Amino acid sequence: MIKVLVVHGPNLNLLGQRQPEIYGTTTLAEIDRQLHALARAEGAAVETFQTNHEGAIIDRLHGAQGRYGAIVLNAGALTHYSYAIRDAIASISVPVVEVHLSNIHAREPFRISVIAPVARGQIAGFGAHSYLLGLRAALAIAADGARRARRKP
Ligand code: DQA
Repeated sequence: MIKVLVVHGPNLNLLGQRQPEIYGTTTLAEIDRQLHALARAEGAAVETFQTNHEGAIIDRLHGAQGRYGAIVLNAGALTHYSYAIRDAIASISVPVVEVHLSNIHAREPFRISVIAPVARGQIAGFGAHSYLLGLRAALAIAADGARRARRKP
């Protein structure tokens, strides 16, 4: 069974109450419920994890090697400056789908992504739907990876 890890970074535990005009009113618990439901419907499994700490994200990325077919990552503001997270993504072979609730490209100039060049792709601007779209992308690339691995002699 395909397994996907979803990592939520700093301040995303406050979703629902945090700047709802930007991030919407859906709570993180509700997003996680929707992710689990989608994974179940697709015959896959998802594990979700939230932390406000950069090192904890890096540890989870390292630990994902060989355990998950893909990762969905919303690194929050760390997206904009964490070369350590960028290097961690580059150090593992598990593909990472970068997601953001808001369209970071339409916001302040500092909201560039230093992780985008090492992510498989990015989904931004669709509110809570970004996560579900990210999970669909993750399931598709994880299935491709599993097919490729089966073809190897
Ligand atoms: C975010 C965008 C970031 O710029 C911000 O710091 C966040 C959330 C998003 O999901 O839109 O914490 O990653």
